[in-house]
Amino acid sequence: MNLKDLYIDFFKSKGHKQIPSAPVVPENDPSVLFNTAGMQPLIPYLMGQKHPYGTRICNYQKCLRTNDLDNIGDTYHHTFFEMLGNWSLGDYFKKESITWSFEFLTKVLNIPKEKLAVTVFAGNDNIDEDKESISIWKSLGIPSEKIIKTKNDNFWIAGETGPCGPDTEIFYFRSDEAVPNFFDPNDERWVEIWNNVFMQYNKINENTFIDLPNKNVDTGMGVERMVAILEGVDDNYKSSLWLPIISKIEKISNKSYLGNEKEMRIIADHIRSAVFIAGDKSGIKPSNTDQGYILRRLIRRAIRYAKKIDININSNFISEIAIEIIHIYEKYYSELKENRETILEVLENEKNKFNKTLEKGLKEFEKSLNYIKNNKIDAITAFKLYDTYGFPIELTEEIAKERNIIVDTIGFKEKFKEHQEKSRTASAGKFKGGLASDGEMEIKYHTATHLLNAALKQIVSKDVHQKGSNITSERMRFDFSCDHKLTEDEKNKVEKLVNKWIQEGHDVIKTEMTKEEAIKSGAECMFIEKYPDIVTVYSIDNLSRELCGGPHVKNTSELGEFIIIKEESSSAGVRRIKAILK
Ligand code: ALA
Repeated sequence: MNLKDLYIDFFKSKGHKQIPSAPVVPENDPSVLFNTAGMQPLIPYLMGQKHPYGTRICNYQKCLRTNDLDNIGDTYHHTFFEMLGNWSLGDYFKKESITWSFEFLTKVLNIPKEKLAVTVFAGNDNIDEDKESISIWKSLGIPSEKIIKTKNDNFWIAGETGPCGPDTEIFYFRSDEAVPNFFDPNDERWVEIWNNVFMQYNKINENTFIDLPNKNVDTGMGVERMVAILEGVDDNYKSSLWLPIISKIEKISNKSYLGNEKEMRIIADHIRSAVFIAGDKSGIKPSNTDQGYILRRLIRRAIRYAKKIDININSNFISEIAIEIIHIYEKYYSELKENRETILEVLENEKNKFNKTLEKGLKEFEKSLNYIKNNKIDAITAFKLYDTYGFPIELTEEIAKERNIIVDTIGFKEKFKEHQEKSRTASAGKFKGGLASDGEMEIKYHTATHLLNAALKQIVSKDVHQKGSNITSERMRFDFSCDHKLTEDEKNKVEKLVNKWIQEGHDVIKTEMTKEEAIKSGAECMFIEKYPDIVTVYSIDNLSRELCGGPHVKNTSELGEFIIIKEESSSAGVRRIKAILK
């Protein structure tokens, strides 16, 4: 049996319910682009909300950390990775958590306890030393010499604020050499394998910690590293998880992994991440913003490294590697099977797009070397590479670095901003056009978009989100994320529901709150970063709640009859509804 199954079975035997992995793109947390830990989708429950599966849960979660792509290429960093987690939501605490971790490692995985060492929280001005964890570890037979206390490395929080607490980290001695009698965290043979966080605080700001309603446990174990350890290899990419992917790359390139490790690891890592992003139900496509930009960067970076090891980048090498990856993971993540065609299409399209300009861009880059001053690529060239040849700025920087040249990134960012502002003003102008007069009809249509949005969520899928809208006094247009053409039945039901809500006469209420409160309250919004710190939220009873500038009618009964005129495709993954009010 493999690690994931062993882990889930073990925690099920301790009364846990398995929850499915959440999508890599957070559904209700616009503060991060991707889930970076298993706990991220569980924040509302760690904050006190009741979880439908109870108080003991476990899973394997798809995670993505993209803050430092430069690290990829070594033996153990990955952008996408799977995290095993078990959680207590106000149920068990330190004793059970530590004891079960120890039992799983020593009894199920058969790791000798001599090969284990731990760190625990040393305490600070706000929070006491974690004496309890120390004594639990000792009672399990971990000697004092293998228990190290730290202040900074044993307090865990996902970002700047939110649920957090002291943690205890478990280390494994990865080496055939004799295990030392004491634990030295600076000795690289000791590698961290598991983190148990005792989440009992909510950090409000730098110095304010308040107690959470419950004492929770949040744990995380990285699958890739643990599998490598269990298989006794000192390079994650040599484990059975990665080997079929690396072999595929060896075959395609007709080169051996030995001597081409860095390139092959980057190709494998980036294509695997791209497969999971493109296969996610959030429907991300390569673009120049947010998750789409990361997806684009990963694919383009993989292509550049493929070129470095002489893979014919005009072949279908990306699909071949992706098919291997889908094959490995589809048993656990059915969305890869369901979205297989989309994944391959996204990868191939992006490859073709980039390949078309890659050569020319590289030439442009070379040309610029003739006139650069102070060993620096100027902002205009960097922007041209971005705008005309599709080189993400990080790519230009990377190529430059390989030649000991720097890039005027500050100048680039200014140019980029200028460009963005220009297009933003253009689109703001358009938007204003739609709402220009704020006449009686426009206001009615505006409220109708909120009802339509809510009805689509109820009838079609809770994953429907607004992607755009345009209103005139004659009609409304509403764009939303959706992976299929609406059926007649769906359209009818949506139309009926909106009309029902209109007839019921619900009040439309405007409230002001901080952006954070609005997000927590589950308010829907399109571009969170574009809103000021204090926002207005329009609620229509408990049917709809959206961040919005208004204006709106006072009561839905003012709208009249709602009729869908047309439903059509707007762009990939986005549908468009045209509707009128009579
Ligand atoms: N959330 C904790 C971590 O990511 C378990 O390390």
